[in-house]
Amino acid sequence: MDDNYDTIEADVLIIGAGGAGMRAAISVNDAGLKPVIVTKSLLGKAHTVMAEGGVAAALGNVDPKDNWTVHYGDIIEEGVYISDWKMAEFLSKEAPDRVHELEKYGAIFDRTPDGKIMQRAFGAHTYRRLAHVGDRTGLEIIKTLEDQVLHRNIEFHDEMYIVDFIVKDGKIAGAIGIKMDTGKLFLFKAKSTVISTGGSGRIFKVTSNSWESTGDGIGIAYRAGAILRDMEMFQFHPTGMVYPPGVKGLLVTEGVRGEGGILLNSKGERFMLRYSPQKKELDARDVVARANYREITEGRGTEHGGVYLDITHKGSEFIKQKLPAMYQQFKEFAGVDITKEKMEVAPTVHYMMGGIQVDAETERTNIPNLFAAGEVASGLHGANRLGGNSLADILVFGKRAGDAAAILARSSKLIDVSDDDIANVKATIDSFFKETGKNPYDLIDRLTTTMSENAGIVRDGERLKKALEDIEEIKKEFSEVGTKGGMRYNHGLLGCMELRNMLISCEALVSSALMREESRGAHTRSDFPKKNPEWKKNILTMKGEDDKMKFETRAIDEMPEEYKGYVKPEVYE
Ligand code: FUM
Repeated sequence: MDDNYDTIEADVLIIGAGGAGMRAAISVNDAGLKPVIVTKSLLGKAHTVMAEGGVAAALGNVDPKDNWTVHYGDIIEEGVYISDWKMAEFLSKEAPDRVHELEKYGAIFDRTPDGKIMQRAFGAHTYRRLAHVGDRTGLEIIKTLEDQVLHRNIEFHDEMYIVDFIVKDGKIAGAIGIKMDTGKLFLFKAKSTVISTGGSGRIFKVTSNSWESTGDGIGIAYRAGAILRDMEMFQFHPTGMVYPPGVKGLLVTEGVRGEGGILLNSKGERFMLRYSPQKKELDARDVVARANYREITEGRGTEHGGVYLDITHKGSEFIKQKLPAMYQQFKEFAGVDITKEKMEVAPTVHYMMGGIQVDAETERTNIPNLFAAGEVASGLHGANRLGGNSLADILVFGKRAGDAAAILARSSKLIDVSDDDIANVKATIDSFFKETGKNPYDLIDRLTTTMSENAGIVRDGERLKKALEDIEEIKKEFSEVGTKGGMRYNHGLLGCMELRNMLISCEALVSSALMREESRGAHTRSDFPKKNPEWKKNILTMKGEDDKMKFETRAIDEMPEEYKGYVKPEVYE
């Protein structure tokens, strides 16, 4: 490997260019400081686009009774009482301002007949709450934020894969990245750092997540000493495409059900009437995903292993206006006209509720100058996320993280980094170059297979132990993975580095899932089918002695008495 590297200095380094990262960069720029964004992908091409159906904000435009206290109650109840109540408060109070701010930046939301921002129904939201742009809301948000980044001349480096942080005296002194299109090494030095790299959905075989979501942020932050939380809580979206194989797992927006779509099994039964007579298709995602899963596994599924989602009764004009992307997606990929035919859908891995533990107000991690926002951070969603709250999350907490990182940067200095510090990271990269290394993608294939088979939508102790054994085996073999050639666009090298990070998410998820001997939200154990009051707590993951993963539990912070009035009391059978 070439020993040379370029150095780039920033007040605040932002790793990840999805909605959270770009919103954080805008805050740093507003504070008059220098943000630098790096992304392993391309600017404007983040997983944010996969939140299609809308951004949740209690604007009360369509249902005037909606307000922040109702949104707050929905978050706590659907997070099954292990969410961070302060984060729920910030999100429900601040999401409306962030949506209006987006409008100021140029986003164009669908409108009500009297010209207000239109809001649609989504699962387990008490009121119609999702501000949307057809079924391309994430795309509109990412493009709007990208415009801001470009017009403000914020420096960004895309196709830049961050390998590791350099930690000095417990603080982040810098990050080492490989510019993938040139193979050149970079040292990014910053006074504070925001990590906003999204989730790790690609640890499963079938997922709505794009190739970027390999848990890189989780990996680099964990190795630097960050504490993770709720890693067992992974969301299955009820409706992903099942056919053709090339698009298996691709998201079918909840907006379809929000606009009146119904779920049917192969016998033509509207089965949600059995599982959830009140909320039906618009119950929380965990409930609907488990119902779909049961219908399929109990033999009432479709030809391609799904259930049917039907919106034909709404008529062609309505469907094409409200759900243009779904119309196009099914037409192009599956040859299905959703204005005339039913869709085939099945649960798909969609969102990581767990992640890096942060302080609610500032998004600061346990590392004093490291902040985290968006899917990579934990706390807000507890055991289950409401649809549309991820877009609200990236805006609210992206801003908060950027504000706090800027305040810290203003009173901090860059930390010296020596050639020896850099040599350690270079040694890691060098170790992946071997004449006869194992192919990392074979190991990734085994890893994702065991995760899907043994740590999926319904879990049990035996299968989780099997997953853990497989992970241990793959960890041992990891020292043998390797690639040849140079640094430039080396996919083998990328595979080695991603696998290294994926293993951390997998081990944390499976170990925490084994510990949590109950069923709560998205975490379902067939051997512990009930919710258990003793498990009303969070599981933390951290690096322990000898670099072994260590786990602890943490009590839930009590919300103020007044706030308890906004939430239905928790019930145990
Ligand atoms: O179904 C959807 O449009 C996804 C939205 C979300 O995950 O927030």
